[in-house]
Amino acid sequence: MINANLNYKVGNTLKEQPSPSDRRLNSSDDLEVSAYLEIAQENRGQSTVRNIKSIDYDEAIVILDYGSQYSRLIARRIRESKVYCEIHPFDVSLDKISHLNIKGFILSGGPASVYEPNAPTLPSFVLGYGIPVLGICYGMQLIAHSLGGDVEASLQREYGHSVLHQNTSNHPLFNNLPQNFPVWMSHGDHVLKLPMGFQCIAYTENSPVAVMGNDNGMIGLQFHPEVVHTEFGNEIIKNFLYLICQCNGNWTSGNFVKESIQKIKDQVGDGRVICALSGGVDSAVVAALIHNAIGERLTCIFIDNGLLRHEEPERVYNTFKNGLGLNLLHINAAQEFVEKLDGVVDPERKRKIIGETFIRIFEESAEQIKNVHFLAQGTLYPDVIESTAGETGPAAKIKTHHNVGGLPENMNLSLVEPLRYLFKDEVREVGSELGLPDEMIQRQPFPGPGLAIRIIGAITNEKLNILRNCDWIVMDEIKSANLYNQLWQSFVVLTDTKSVGVMGDNRTYGYAVAIRAVTSDDAMTADWARLPYEILAKISNRIVNEVPEVNRVVYDITSKPPGTIEWE
Ligand code: XMP
Repeated sequence: MINANLNYKVGNTLKEQPSPSDRRLNSSDDLEVSAYLEIAQENRGQSTVRNIKSIDYDEAIVILDYGSQYSRLIARRIRESKVYCEIHPFDVSLDKISHLNIKGFILSGGPASVYEPNAPTLPSFVLGYGIPVLGICYGMQLIAHSLGGDVEASLQREYGHSVLHQNTSNHPLFNNLPQNFPVWMSHGDHVLKLPMGFQCIAYTENSPVAVMGNDNGMIGLQFHPEVVHTEFGNEIIKNFLYLICQCNGNWTSGNFVKESIQKIKDQVGDGRVICALSGGVDSAVVAALIHNAIGERLTCIFIDNGLLRHEEPERVYNTFKNGLGLNLLHINAAQEFVEKLDGVVDPERKRKIIGETFIRIFEESAEQIKNVHFLAQGTLYPDVIESTAGETGPAAKIKTHHNVGGLPENMNLSLVEPLRYLFKDEVREVGSELGLPDEMIQRQPFPGPGLAIRIIGAITNEKLNILRNCDWIVMDEIKSANLYNQLWQSFVVLTDTKSVGVMGDNRTYGYAVAIRAVTSDDAMTADWARLPYEILAKISNRIVNEVPEVNRVVYDITSKPPGTIEWE
């Protein structure tokens, strides 16, 4: 197996870049690559096109989603406990999940009441599997309702902290936990009568049955173990996984890398793969994984759209071509993009033009590479969940997100999506396992349309340069203050407002720029970062002194919602 150990020495500051001499792919790895290539060469012509449907890990937990705002959080907690899990809509058909070795089901919470007409129901296969089931909130009420218990509206809605009191001292779910501890509640209904064979395991002041269970590993929790406010929530989830479902905990980034490489080899056979590289963490990890699996038969395409940050094209090229030794096609299309965007003010039009231009150039470049059957993409699990929940999801379109993942569907290529089942932080762990430089792995997200959506109004080369200079200063100061990794994003927006200032004895009339720095877990919501005043002062000082076209700096103190992270 090709197991290239790619290690790089990369400094923390923006100015340091990996140099070709930092590459430490040892010669035996190179030998393995070429040996593999020879075998692949011999097999050429017998290629079969296979698609991986899903990951077949030796164990999995399936979360059935009843519409809870916390379903993803449950998944995160399980993955953090080193167990693979998938979220599916509650009415998923059995054949979509039967390839998994399911060790337990989790029924999420949800907004409905089990006694309402048309309330979501319990699929019959859940009981038929004969494996542990953990119902959380609505999930618990559903177990009770489906098995002959009674659920009714509580006289008083229970929301926030409550103290859980255990009735027993030996239930495995509470192994090694205190008899009483705070839990987080959010419910209007509660279980009034237990179904046959169930015991009440714990109660709170307002929920006489806060936890119930039977001898077959069916458990109901009225509280939410997945939220941080439930003390010992992680321990409860781990106890369910390890003591009740008997999981082994083999979901580690090391195992993921090994299995993915094998799966990519199986899927691709002796075919060739192309991959659009943006320089961001997702496409970088995809490229590194596939490169590990098929070496030279991967070609990456990097399109410089002229909307990148200071020295970014050089940095991407150096890292991927010279550092990682990837087959890299570097297309400089800066002029074409900027010309097409000339005079365009509307953010959605900007996105559309950039998206279309990108796809056309990508298609043209892909045509130059012969015998390609596969297109690699950095699709992540949240995208997959979002698209399954698509029909019931929020209807209002806020922005059309264009990224390099939105590639043409009519290219007649099979998709290779090795990150399809990962969350962002898991992607970072995999990147680290692959030896990618920290600077690349920890990179803050950068939007596909780049600086175009950070310049309010029409884009010009002059404005792009002003923004690049400001952005460079912000990155430098944020990194020097060791804040970079704590922020989801930190950047500058060039507004279309000019204002009067005074420098020395002279009047100035320059641009106002806005600094945006946010914290977030997944970009769905975000909070403006409480940056220290000293850092803001330094940034402001440097920008007005070092970028002559700018004479005013403001700090954006809007969260999402109601704002969005980017201004356009
Ligand atoms: P908003 O501005 O919608 O951004 O709060 C949420 C996250 O998405 C990024 N973003 C984009 N990414 N193409 C992308 O690839 C886009 O068109 C786009 N618009 C916003 C944004 O940087 C943030 O991380």
